[in-house]
Amino acid sequence: MSKVLFNEKTFEDLLDISKSLSSERDLDRLLDKILSEARRFTCSDAGTIYLVNNNKLIFMLSQVQTLFDRWGEQQTREKFKKFEMPITKQSMAGYAAITGMVLNIPDVNKISPDKEYKYNASFDEQNDYKTVSMLVVPMKNRQNQPIGVLQLINAFGEDKKVIAYTKSLERLVESLASMAGIAIQNAQLNQEIRNAHLDTILRLGIAAEYRDKETANHIRRMARYSLLIAESLGWNKETCERLLYAAPMHDVGKLGIPDEILHKPGVLTTDERETMQKHTLIGANILHHSRAEELVLSKLIALTHHEKWDGSGYPQGLKQKEIPIEGRIAAITDVFDALSSRRCYKEPFPEEKVIEIMKHDSGRHFDPELTELFLSKIVEIRSIQIRYQDTDADFDKLRNINALSPADLIDNNKNSQIKFDF
Ligand code: C2E
Ligand code: SIN
Ligand code: SIN
Ligand code: SIN
Ligand code: FE
Ligand code: FE
Repeated sequence: MSKVLFNEKTFEDLLDISKSLSSERDLDRLLDKILSEARRFTCSDAGTIYLVNNNKLIFMLSQVQTLFDRWGEQQTREKFKKFEMPITKQSMAGYAAITGMVLNIPDVNKISPDKEYKYNASFDEQNDYKTVSMLVVPMKNRQNQPIGVLQLINAFGEDKKVIAYTKSLERLVESLASMAGIAIQNAQLNQEIRNAHLDTILRLGIAAEYRDKETANHIRRMARYSLLIAESLGWNKETCERLLYAAPMHDVGKLGIPDEILHKPGVLTTDERETMQKHTLIGANILHHSRAEELVLSKLIALTHHEKWDGSGYPQGLKQKEIPIEGRIAAITDVFDALSSRRCYKEPFPEEKVIEIMKHDSGRHFDPELTELFLSKIVEIRSIQIRYQDTDADFDKLRNINALSPADLIDNNKNSQIKFDF
């Protein structure tokens, strides 16, 4: 157990952990790292992390070496689902969160009945596990408020026997928990900024479609179809997600097109068509010089989503692989949805007709490989259509401003975090 005493090596290790924690922006990965490091440092068999949110404790994850060995790590992790519980002093994690104090329990079966907290044996019972010693440490943010709880379970001594957590281990875990608290706060702030940023992107896209009298569902479907292609291409999660968030802005330039052209019920004249085509350049101009990576991609898509494989598209007349792949994807998904939906100038086509047009224009308008890939996903396409179906109410709201009612806008979920579900 010599490695757990405060010596120079321990400080170096703590510094390394601190650096590694502060560089992790993804909350789930960060929590996993915190727990692994805390277990490693204390030779603990198990551990759990809770986060505090709206007067609830959210169980985020557990790592249990004994169960990993018994069932395999992946299967064990899948068994532990996130859940919420009220914060009360009756649970040990709740007690630590409320009081800000560390609980160092040599044996959970011998907690004195006059304590406010109790040991809840349901985890042990459900998993055929035996908890003995526990160290329960609050993790605090910069404002010194508890934002989470780190629970370590069953410290191993020399001969793999469970021992109580020593005072020096307790101090060590307290230092680690205070670094962890700040890192968690940073990751949460980063997530909030990202959510706000992505939410703004979606809503700008909706603003453009609003003017176009299309529905917000058009861009949701189009973005989902684009994601479908990206996933089929085997792109990694970050790249797929970036496309999902960038695609909704493809027609943002329609904000700059006069009403009488944008809303014309019939076919456009040559001049009107020429003006209409400027929506690609207007969109790219709106998004020009942004340093946010989604907007850089949005600009590219706004500029290139009407280019055609055979070079007959606009505004640059690029052909084949001169057209960036994201533009080739958006061309397919945008037209597919335009054909399947009602527009001010056209009725929706039935599915067979849409597929026939897509196949006919494959190799002319569209990248043939990507078209084949997309059309092979018809089952997924249909479920996106069902999930993001246009209703008459959607159209009424867009066509008749008088149909908008303040009652529809009351937000019953003020306390919930920004959700970006589209
Ligand atoms: P949009 O309505 O979002 O349509 C996007 C693209 O879907 C069109 O790009 C076109 O490639 C394809 N598309 C839509 N409807 C049909 C169709 O009935 N048949 C075929 N084969 N393809 C179709 P495009 O043509 O460059 O048009 C860009 C935008 O210009 C359209 O966006 C729409 O806002 C407007 N627009 C195009 N044609 C007309 C029209 O005849 N009347 C009016 N009022 N607007 C039009
Ligand atoms: C990717 O972004 O992962 C691939 C891009 C490309 O194929 O051009
Ligand atoms: C931001 O956080 O404002 C932009 C970061 C990004 O999405 O690239
Ligand atoms: C249309 O907008 O009606 C069809 C023109 C095209 O196929 O690009
Ligand atoms: Fe467009
Ligand atoms: Fe569109």
